[in-house]
Amino acid sequence: MDTYLVGGAVRDELLGIPVKDRDWVVVGASPEDMLAQGYRQVGADFPVFLHPQTNEEYALARTERKQGHGYHGFVVYSAPDVTLEEDLRRRDLTINAMARDADNQLVDPFNGHQDLTDRWLRHVSPAFAEDPLRILRTARFAARFAPKGFRVADETMALMRQMVADGEVNHLVPERVWQEVQRALQEQAPTVFFEVLQACNALAVLIPELDESRLATALAALRCISAKADATDTRLAALLSPLPARQAEHRAQAMKAPNECQQLVRLTTRCREQLGTLPADTGACAEDLLQLLELTDAWRKPERFDRLIGVLGCVVERRQAPILEQLQQAANTTAQVNARELMAQGHKGKALGQAIRQERLRRIQALLPTH
Ligand code: CTP
Repeated sequence: MDTYLVGGAVRDELLGIPVKDRDWVVVGASPEDMLAQGYRQVGADFPVFLHPQTNEEYALARTERKQGHGYHGFVVYSAPDVTLEEDLRRRDLTINAMARDADNQLVDPFNGHQDLTDRWLRHVSPAFAEDPLRILRTARFAARFAPKGFRVADETMALMRQMVADGEVNHLVPERVWQEVQRALQEQAPTVFFEVLQACNALAVLIPELDESRLATALAALRCISAKADATDTRLAALLSPLPARQAEHRAQAMKAPNECQQLVRLTTRCREQLGTLPADTGACAEDLLQLLELTDAWRKPERFDRLIGVLGCVVERRQAPILEQLQQAANTTAQVNARELMAQGHKGKALGQAIRQERLRRIQALLPTH
């Protein structure tokens, strides 16, 4: 049997970037051979094994053919006679379809090295179309490698458009989509992910609210926050910020984004709407600021509040920037309000709540120039 290093590890090493995990393909072996050598099988019906010492993944060479729509219905054929080239042919992009043999020689039947040098994301074969998740993967690799000059090859973009037109993207389950979106939001140029999805018309299926009238604003906000913060919730909140609050909340929920993300999306859009109602000339009064702090639960969630202020800084109109500054100061000064002191003064129950609010308001008023 022969063992080859494959996929991302070969690609990243050629790009001169750190290799995260290493995946291996084994040719000419049966599951029994692997078990006899101490490998542990992962999953019941998939020929993937873990190395007894390194825990790295060793997959028997396999071909896959799709039956049915979406991510279901793959027929996997794995046997000792499946060649390395057959295994590489079923993969998504040429830059992901290279291997290294035991002598460290590059095995590259689909010219992945040339595409890597020329910065092309190009599909290996028509089998790309059998897995609609690959549209999102390609967009994600575009987002990761755009700073290095990579772009999607024309014929791959054409194939992705065809897949979208055939309705393939409609069959993806939200969990798989979120997994890709979340990873894309962490990439170096996350806006590129959404630009590629827009270019192949998948965005209209996945996030239909981000239509042409809103996309540029959404991407500007995402670009701005990406330069300042890498938390997923801040990036998602920036992306969905141009939507009306209810639509944004609904989308984050439908995407099955984690609660933390859904909450920041909700607060960002609500605050943006709220800030938009303030008079342009006089700005916020103390009561407005206090209500915003109450809405955001700033005292119990100070870190989330800081992230929110960061996102809002990328979202609100320029004329509202001074209000954000005031809001931050209002949060700082009201954080000092000491409930225990007020209790010691005899306030309790509902009256204590009112006294705390009054004290917060008084402190905010003291900050404002009209005071
Ligand atoms: N692959 C594929 N189609 C998919 C998923 C994976 O063709 N839908 C293939 C690609 O050849 C890929 C390899 O399986 O290189 C390993 O997949 P994965 O670990 O998800 O990606 P990596 O390329 O290693 O990238 P990353 O750096 O994001 O882990």
